[in-house]
Amino acid sequence: MDLRPTKLVIDLDKLKNNIDVIRRDSGDAQIIGIVKSDAYGMGDLEITRELIANGITHVAVANVSEAYHLRTHFPNLKILILGYTPVSLVEFCMDHDITLTVYALDLAKAYNDIMNAAGKTLNIHVKLDTGMHRLGFDISEKGKDEVLEVSRMEGLHVTGIFSHFADSDGSDEITRGQYMRFIQFTDALKEQMDIGIRHISNSGAVIQYSEYHLDAIRPGIALYGSFDWSREIGDAFGLEFVASLVTEVASVKTLGPGEGISYGHKYVTERPTQVVVLPVGYSDGLLRSMTERFDVLIHGRRCPQIGLICMDQLMVDATGLDVKIGDEVVILGKQGDEEITLEELAEASGEPNTPFLSHLSPRLTRVYKKNGRVMRVVEEILEG
Ligand SMILES: Cc1ncc(COP(=O)(O)O)c(C=O)c1O
Repeated sequence: MDLRPTKLVIDLDKLKNNIDVIRRDSGDAQIIGIVKSDAYGMGDLEITRELIANGITHVAVANVSEAYHLRTHFPNLKILILGYTPVSLVEFCMDHDITLTVYALDLAKAYNDIMNAAGKTLNIHVKLDTGMHRLGFDISEKGKDEVLEVSRMEGLHVTGIFSHFADSDGSDEITRGQYMRFIQFTDALKEQMDIGIRHISNSGAVIQYSEYHLDAIRPGIALYGSFDWSREIGDAFGLEFVASLVTEVASVKTLGPGEGISYGHKYVTERPTQVVVLPVGYSDGLLRSMTERFDVLIHGRRCPQIGLICMDQLMVDATGLDVKIGDEVVILGKQGDEEITLEELAEASGEPNTPFLSHLSPRLTRVYKKNGRVMRVVEEILEG
């Protein structure tokens, strides 16, 4: 049962379409599905279940809690943690067959000591800093010596090596430079160690640089149907955004001119205005900074948001429509001939698509559809 009228509706057929178009372009490269941050807000369990159903058996997340959440549901899934894992959690990860990223010699030594003391071996992917300047061993002689030292550690087993593009949806020059450094460095390493699988391509590169795909690709936002900066490029590739955000009218009233609306009365009506209240607010992910910067769809018509966005509610101007409590409202997606795109909403938030999606709250009811039918409803707040 869905307990809220405010729902993120996720179309698993579109997810399948996105997997298919990514796969069509990726040759033999395996897909490591990026499902961190609750699968970009789409729900890690349902998305991962669908990835597995479509032959993707390797995923990556940001941290141990995300990895463990998946492990408790998917015993055979390959799970890679892309970010920092504290030394105190290493044995736990090993016991749950979670692969860690190693990007610094000190970390490798600490992990190795723990594994040696426990008489165990931890699977790791080595991360290289080819230019993002976030995590990674340096591309230098020193960096090479350090990675080779890691490869000789008894308690660690290198099953992969990777890097991350800083601008694969932007600059060709930066991306090519990073790729060339990655290839030269890993080719040299390959002569002295087993590097496992090589991977560097996030969505931007998956879509724009099929020549950089190597053994595996790591699409995140593309799986969910978006190319962060350009709807046209995503559409041309065949991606379809998987989610829509809907709610219902909670209240309708008409105010005369000169009435202030919401906190601070920052919006003042200029004419008789039909004010509709929606049960969705900034704590659902429609950030307060989006105030008066987006429209919603009611009866297939655009209605501008007015007045400061509240925690759980917001107001729109639906003047001229015959609106009733309970009528459907589309915040993201199609209604009639109109559409509110992800790009449009994200722009209203002042952020690209991915950060915008990551603000969508677990409080939103998630409704999963397949073959046009509701398959599952998830109320995260009840999941315990
Ligand atoms: C290391 C790494 N790989 C892959 C991805 C997926 O990126 P995208 O969503 O652009 O495909 C991310 C996302 O931030 C990441 O941090």
